Amino acid sequence: MKAIIPVAGFGTRLRPHTLTKPKVLMSVAGKPMIHHIIEQLISEKLVDSIILVTGFMGNKIENYLNKSFNFKFENAIQEEAKGLGHAIYCSKHLFNTDKPEDVIIILGDTLFDVNLSDLCKNDFSVIGVKEVEDPRRFGVVEKDSEGFVKKFIEKPSGPEVSKSNEAIVGLYYLKNSNLLFESLKSIIEKNIRTKNEYQLTDALSEMLLRNEKIVTYPVDGWLDCGKPETIFETNQYLLKKVPIKENSIFQHKYSFVGDDCEIKNSIIGEFTSVGDNCKIINSIITNSIIESGSHIENAIIKDSIIGEKVTVKNKAQILNLGDYSEC
Ligand code: UTP
Repeated sequence: MKAIIPVAGFGTRLRPHTLTKPKVLMSVAGKPMIHHIIEQLISEKLVDSIILVTGFMGNKIENYLNKSFNFKFENAIQEEAKGLGHAIYCSKHLFNTDKPEDVIIILGDTLFDVNLSDLCKNDFSVIGVKEVEDPRRFGVVEKDSEGFVKKFIEKPSGPEVSKSNEAIVGLYYLKNSNLLFESLKSIIEKNIRTKNEYQLTDALSEMLLRNEKIVTYPVDGWLDCGKPETIFETNQYLLKKVPIKENSIFQHKYSFVGDDCEIKNSIIGEFTSVGDNCKIINSIITNSIIESGSHIENAIIKDSIIGEKVTVKNKAQILNLGDYSEC
């Protein structure tokens, strides 16, 4: 089986960081978000190849993965970010129509605390879902009495709100690559767009029309990293899962410090992730992500995202600083 991970978006909601670095290379709990996804996929031994659909700064992602993992990566290029469905369609040439196969699709900016092997142990195609209190902000699935997906509803409103509270989380196991690509082709040829983009959900609706049976799988650990609020939540979740063994007053147990850092007279507080080669002097940092090579001195920082090779001196505030900034 192959996995497809689309990573060709611009990540506009995480600017300025995504102006110099692809979103999926931003760190959570000390490692790029894509690293966590690939690690999980490889450890569950589910797939024999991982396809990255890349666009903007895609070579940085390829270089990182080839340097960090000894695994088969294939690359598909999405020249223009025309939506998730279009991104997946760009990987069509990597599949053999004479030998349709199962596919797993994972969004590049979303981590899942879920047993993927269990999700894929199914006779039908599967969509990962999570019950949410207010379905109006999400794409949701409506099911029939036997539990098969009947309809997808994007951001339900009015009477549709009560039909389902199962939100689509961005994790898919699809049984037939041919049907997937035929359905994507169909929506692209008919120019079916939602919010001006070719959506995977529209292709899934097309699959339903072509009699595909789709079921849902509950995903509790849905860890979005696509915007500042959620990247902090994901960082916190991951840091809580693997507390450091040696708790000291200088480093909170729910924190991470990379290799070759110089930490002097400072507190690395709760939910702080510090990349490699950082220098932190006379400072207190909480609930923040500090990328590698940064220098923080005489500062009190919280709720901040600090890019690579940033210098911060004599500050007490919330910061959102792109790579190489000085302040
Ligand atoms: P998002 O829409 O959340 O990511 O897509 P984005 O477009 O990068 O972010 P914003 O909205 O500008 O902040 C979810 C995943 O699908 C990929 C993205 O790279 C991300 O991993 N994607 C999205 C593509 O590969 N191509 C697209 O055309 C759209």
